[in-house]
Amino acid sequence: MSDLADVLKISILGNESIHCGFHLLPYIFHTILTTLPSSTYVLITDTNLSRLYLSDITAAFEENAKKAGSKARFLVHEVQPGEGAKCRKVKEEIEDWMLDEKCTRDTVILAFGGGVIGDLTGFIAATFMRGVKFVQIPTTLLAMVDSAVGGKTAVDTPHGKNLIGAFWQPAYIFADLAFLTTLPPREVSNGMAEVVKTAAIWKDDDFALLESNADAISTAASTRLSAGSTLGRFESDRTEPQSLLLRVVTGSIYVKAHIVTIDERETGLRNLVNFGHTIGHAIEAVLTPQMLHGECVSVGIILEAEVARQLGVLSQVAVGRLTRALKAYNLPVSLSDPRITAIPASSQLSVDRLLDIMKIDKKNSGPAKKIVLLSRVGKTYEEKASVVQDDVIRKVLCEAATVISGIPTKSPITMATPGSKSISNRALVLAALGKGVCRVRNLLHSDDTAVMMNALAELKGAKFSWEDGGDTIVVEGGEGSLTVPEKGRHLYLGNAGTAARFLTTVCTIVNRTSPSTSNTIITGNARMKQRPIGPLVDALSENGASLSYLEGANCLPLEIGANGLRGGHIRLAASVSSQYVSSILLCAPYAQSEIKLELTGGQVISQPYIDMTIAMMAEFGIDVVRQKGANGELLDVYNIPKGVYTSPATYNVESDASSATYPLAIAAITGTTCTISNIGSSSLQGDARFAKEVLEPMGCQVEQTATATTVTGPPLGQLRALGNVDMEPMTDAFLTASVLAAIATLPPLAGREVEGLKKEGSRIYGIANQRVKECNRIKAMREELAKFGVETDEFDDGIIIFGKPLDQLKRGASIHCYDDHRVAMAFAVLSSVVEKTVIEEKRCVEKTWPNFWDDLQNKIGINVEGVELEQNHASTSAHPMSNGTSSTSQHPLFLIGMRGAGKTYIGRMAAQALGGEFTDADDVFAERTKLSVSDFVAQNDWAEFRRVEREILADMMAEKQGNHVIALGGGVVETPEARELLSQHVKSGGRVVYVTRELEEIEGYLDSIGSTATRPKWGEDFSAVFARRSPWYAACSSHEFYNTLEPLAGQSQAEHHHAMRAECERFFRFISGLITNRPDLSSGRPTSFLSLTFADIRPALAQMEELTEGADAVELRVDLLSKDGKAPSTPGLPSPAYVAKQLSTLRLVTPLPIVFSVRTKEQGGWASSTDDKAYLEMVRLGLRSACEYVDLEMAWPGALLEAVQKEKGGSAIIASWHDWTGKMKWDGSLVSDKYAQCAKYGDVVKIVGTAQSVVDNMALAQFVASKEANGKPFLAINMGGHGQLSRILNPVLTPVTHSALPSRAAPGQLTNREVLSGRHLMGLLPAKKFYLFGKPIAQSVSPLLHNTGFTTIGLPYEYGRYETDQTDDEVRRIISSPDFGGASVTIPLKLQIMDLLDSVSDDAKVIGAVNTIIPTSDSVGGTTKLHGDNTDWQAIREAAQAGLAGTQVTGLVIGAGGTCRAAIYALHQLGATSILLFNRTTANAESVAQSFPAEYGITVISSLDTLPAQPNVVISTVPGDSLSLSSGSGIPLPKTVLGGHGGVAIDLAYRPHKTALVQLAEETEGWTAVTGVEILCLQGFRQFELWTGKKAPGRKMREAVMQEYLKA
Ligand SMILES: NC(=O)c1ccc[n+]([C@@H]2O[C@H](COP(=O)([O-])OP(=O)(O)OC[C@H]3O[C@@H](n4cnc5c(N)ncnc54)[C@H](O)[C@@H]3O)[C@@H](O)[C@H]2O)c1
Ligand SMILES: [Zn+2]
Repeated sequence: MSDLADVLKISILGNESIHCGFHLLPYIFHTILTTLPSSTYVLITDTNLSRLYLSDITAAFEENAKKAGSKARFLVHEVQPGEGAKCRKVKEEIEDWMLDEKCTRDTVILAFGGGVIGDLTGFIAATFMRGVKFVQIPTTLLAMVDSAVGGKTAVDTPHGKNLIGAFWQPAYIFADLAFLTTLPPREVSNGMAEVVKTAAIWKDDDFALLESNADAISTAASTRLSAGSTLGRFESDRTEPQSLLLRVVTGSIYVKAHIVTIDERETGLRNLVNFGHTIGHAIEAVLTPQMLHGECVSVGIILEAEVARQLGVLSQVAVGRLTRALKAYNLPVSLSDPRITAIPASSQLSVDRLLDIMKIDKKNSGPAKKIVLLSRVGKTYEEKASVVQDDVIRKVLCEAATVISGIPTKSPITMATPGSKSISNRALVLAALGKGVCRVRNLLHSDDTAVMMNALAELKGAKFSWEDGGDTIVVEGGEGSLTVPEKGRHLYLGNAGTAARFLTTVCTIVNRTSPSTSNTIITGNARMKQRPIGPLVDALSENGASLSYLEGANCLPLEIGANGLRGGHIRLAASVSSQYVSSILLCAPYAQSEIKLELTGGQVISQPYIDMTIAMMAEFGIDVVRQKGANGELLDVYNIPKGVYTSPATYNVESDASSATYPLAIAAITGTTCTISNIGSSSLQGDARFAKEVLEPMGCQVEQTATATTVTGPPLGQLRALGNVDMEPMTDAFLTASVLAAIATLPPLAGREVEGLKKEGSRIYGIANQRVKECNRIKAMREELAKFGVETDEFDDGIIIFGKPLDQLKRGASIHCYDDHRVAMAFAVLSSVVEKTVIEEKRCVEKTWPNFWDDLQNKIGINVEGVELEQNHASTSAHPMSNGTSSTSQHPLFLIGMRGAGKTYIGRMAAQALGGEFTDADDVFAERTKLSVSDFVAQNDWAEFRRVEREILADMMAEKQGNHVIALGGGVVETPEARELLSQHVKSGGRVVYVTRELEEIEGYLDSIGSTATRPKWGEDFSAVFARRSPWYAACSSHEFYNTLEPLAGQSQAEHHHAMRAECERFFRFISGLITNRPDLSSGRPTSFLSLTFADIRPALAQMEELTEGADAVELRVDLLSKDGKAPSTPGLPSPAYVAKQLSTLRLVTPLPIVFSVRTKEQGGWASSTDDKAYLEMVRLGLRSACEYVDLEMAWPGALLEAVQKEKGGSAIIASWHDWTGKMKWDGSLVSDKYAQCAKYGDVVKIVGTAQSVVDNMALAQFVASKEANGKPFLAINMGGHGQLSRILNPVLTPVTHSALPSRAAPGQLTNREVLSGRHLMGLLPAKKFYLFGKPIAQSVSPLLHNTGFTTIGLPYEYGRYETDQTDDEVRRIISSPDFGGASVTIPLKLQIMDLLDSVSDDAKVIGAVNTIIPTSDSVGGTTKLHGDNTDWQAIREAAQAGLAGTQVTGLVIGAGGTCRAAIYALHQLGATSILLFNRTTANAESVAQSFPAEYGITVISSLDTLPAQPNVVISTVPGDSLSLSSGSGIPLPKTVLGGHGGVAIDLAYRPHKTALVQLAEETEGWTAVTGVEILCLQGFRQFELWTGKKAPGRKMREAVMQEYLKA
């Protein structure tokens, strides 16, 4: 070996040219310089890598060149990181540069980087001077194990990836694993997918290493070493994890090299490495570049393994192992992984689309698709890819399944269902502690058992291996000898409850090996850390074992001393869990003296499970004696003799009896025969009684031996109803019984009838616990059975099902499974006789029977097909039990923050915005404990309070719906357990909002309300508490809401409240994915944002409407903000608290979306360009504050960009790159690289250059046009005076300024008006004409209203009138002319006009009137369509909302003419449940009321004198002089109409200005008046927005109208 490093060499194509190790740079350059002598060495790398390694590389070259006496040149060329560099243009650039540098044929090129660099450099080497030598130095894991090995080189073209290239073998491949330590973790996982894949097809022993050492391997790949460290260079100083990493990586390289060697030109064998790639590539084609190759392959591996499983060539065990292994490396394993579903493109992952992409895979021959089928871990079914039919792939890819109903073709069937979980876990412990080799068959392969095996192996208690492709586990027992794990190694148990309980006692009998490692630590995930284990720990501690809690009391993590178990008398409280009892029983024989176990606490829970443990111990040779009392009654005292278990040679794990009910029920329902071969009358599982106690009375023939059960069903359609049946001992089987009962129509057996129940009724009771399983199963069964037309009823602890003849059941039901395996399998039974039933979420069976659908087909003989659900269908059925708005998130929303921060105020408004409920956790606490918080604390203590509080939190997380808003107590973050719960909630996609306010404001607020008795007082200084909790609140939350208490910018308290309400609505709907609040950037309509350049925006708030005229968004330049209000002069950023406050302030004065930009010095701003922490913190604030757009500069390292992209939530990223140097050319390669990078990270791409001349704008336009097909909105402009043209041309979010701003944000920036008039002059913004149709309209102020708006913004539009009472030819001509921009429609044409339109909104249809015509141009055909809408009702709603405080609405509408319909509709949309309607002629009112649906709750009243309810919104639709306050003329308006606690009175009459209703409202306390002219303005604003897509400049439009109106 070399004295420079220890390397492992692998041969490829006959040469030992692959060298692997750690810290190889000196070795690499020594080898190259001495064996590949040359005059010139050229190193190609990317800028990420050069920043990290170039100085080390240069030093290593120079040192070794000196030693070797070489005078060679060392030239370096850097490209931009990313796939963009793999193109012909960059290849050309490098070649030209090499020619300039006079490189000749003897040049050696070194590729230093990932696959991109390797492929590009290899191709250059292959063609430069007809081929020169080259060396691969891969730096990503993917490159080491895949792309660098095999000689494939290529570049991409716009037609596709890798289309131009060559085979060219490198002289060396140096895999230096130390480079992996700087690789982002996601890239490590990316490569791991290939490593796992290779082991799966070729090396089962490597696979075993990979699956059991994931932590160590990941650690070795990611642990950064201190600078200068060369740890691992020599074998002697390699850490254990490093050796493992080297072993699996070289193992993988070896396989690839071997396959390449025997099959260099890709015939059959080489295709094996495509395992996972056929489906994986199709997924990648849709999700690239957001998902990486390896991530897509990981999902592909599982799906292709499922294809093999379905074809019957691969066992479920193998699929389970693959799944767990990939998950262990943090890779996605299904298309429903949140990392995938979060990507917008994932909506295109339809089955047809994927199959279509696979069709053109170059590895296919003809139309048939080829997939590499695994036959077991480490081996493929054929030595090549196999042809697989489409329907098989379709079945795997589909989320839903349909069962082809029919008689099971395999009857009579004999089968075993998956093993019981309880028995599997016990068998593992017994065999591990026992003597001899035990072959355990039918073990359940679940997370639980995997955790148990890993832990026992870690304790060196036993050895596990697999036989029959994993169907048999071979356990080599350790006879009870166990060793403390290495120091620092914890036994991680996830959420495996049984494993935690059993292992707690197992760890007490571990042997002490050395004094330094005498303790074992067991821990689990956050949920596990909530699950109690106290009674067991108490019992063991009393017996002298040393156990201590490391975090919360009574829960894991636990530190357990290796002191052995003393034995003797142990007392255990057994009323909580029988698993404590079993845990002690199982380990008891290994105590120092014989154990007498006494169960205390009265009632013993789940005795059958204790009996199960004792029975199994007897099978392993230890007989437990249960003591009897004087009268022979059984006592809860057990004697366990000392001894060692003797394992039987084989142990068959009994099937899970609940699973067995499904095949037995299929026999029952189809009239066939099924035998379950390993469950019989001796079974200790309650559900084993299902055959005898449910199926037999239904008319089945049941034969049960001690170990087997056979059921033969009666002829089809002849099942008996059950009458009354107690299913308490087998509650899980009630779903199976229910589907049978659905078609059981014969009368029940004598003695089972229930009085008063119809003969076809089955009344199942004793199943109350089923309401709190995966879902409320009783409710679920009722809802789903109803889809078949089956009637049901329910009572406290049960369900009643009324059977129906089979042929009367409805066909074609689509079953929602509530993510509950038992619902899915039960309905599979029913669908075997009811045609066309669809089971919507077939994957939910994975919990207990992952290959259920395959078994149904292969073992029972009932075919299953995949069906693809319609997108909408799937999403609407996702929350059938939630009422109201459906939210994208299933999890409830939590509010945290200091008491006094306004959680209740905000929470109420949030719940209303989401259409859900609001809960104050304090109320739940009081309800549960029957005590107020302070009383509870007084009677108990704080710790106990926190414990109960946490329990409530965990319950609410599990139970509440997605639109439920819950305010938590201020101190909830005080315990680490609760913080962990909240963090987990956020991690799993939940929303936790930190409601905040400045400290002084909270204190002031609390003082103002005085201290309330219901909450405990602060024991310590308030500001100290605030300081302690603030970072916790921040860390546990996903979002931050800054609560502004005081009105701003001269707003009144009511206006302020209205603004807060609007912002709450926006904020909470935005973070719940219900709205984006962003303009449509793909419409082609030019958009812009105003760049705010204030240091403090507060002085400008009152002006904000004017400043933002015509803008589609507002940019907050965070780096320009400064607390002292002066423009910054040194690099840095203001405090996040200041920014948060500024942002929330801005929100209250503008409804426009915010662009949150932090511009660094290098990119033209004031933030430091080197302080990535400060930058990231600030960008995060933007994301957490729910900004619609967040700017992300591409100058930062990949890891930062990745992090932001991952956390972006609902925000859109504007990925930006600014070139201030003028060096970037729009036709050069840098801009292409930057574009690719921006497109990777951004939802909007923003590239800003600097124009040297006007011509540069042409190059820009061409570049933009070339990227059009990519589809991402692209903001491209040039700075400087010469660049102004580009600002006019750019259609996407052009940054604009305003004359009233202190400075322009960038040189050359134009105002919005300048941009628009520029566009107009260039023909990009043609003039348009707008009209008012109706009669009489001569006096209308609408033209003034809209023309003022158009002029203010700078749009070349004109609004005129056409007076007519017919939709005549002129109207037709106007609306079809090309310059038609839109029209307002008034009396008498509002109904008639509909005939001329292509579409009419639903609102307008219900109201029966169109007042707005909007031409829309079809983006594809370019044809114009006319759409009709109604903005009257929107104006009424808006006016009412502004005057109400979110209270329940009761409406009164006066008048039953045409306009009343808009008023009624608006009230209904406001949530009014009761609407009073008055008209002088009651009959007219009656007929209006009749025409609305009953749910509108309209009551016709004949007099205004006494009202049946007090309205808070009163709307008059009668002419302005009809109502009168004085008796005499007109309809008298009694003062009592405006009573109660106040409200809003709206008069739709336009004249007089102050009608009777308006006058009365102005005089009445608590009432707000809205005049007809105000409604006219509001409806006009909405029209303006529909026509222009821009916010109406309301203040100016209204001012103009009022002036004119009051003049007349
Ligand atoms: N030739 C083949 O047989 C073959 C096989 C598989 C893939 N490929 C090709 O490989 C390419 C993908 O390769 P990749 O996954 O290595 O991506 P990559 O080359 O783009 O590298 C990923 C990222 O990690 C950075 N990086 C690389 N090494 C680093 C290190 N040690 N520390 C910090 N950062 C580091 C890079 O700058 C880059 O940003 C694709 O173009 C693909 O087509 C080729
Ligand atoms: Zn691959």
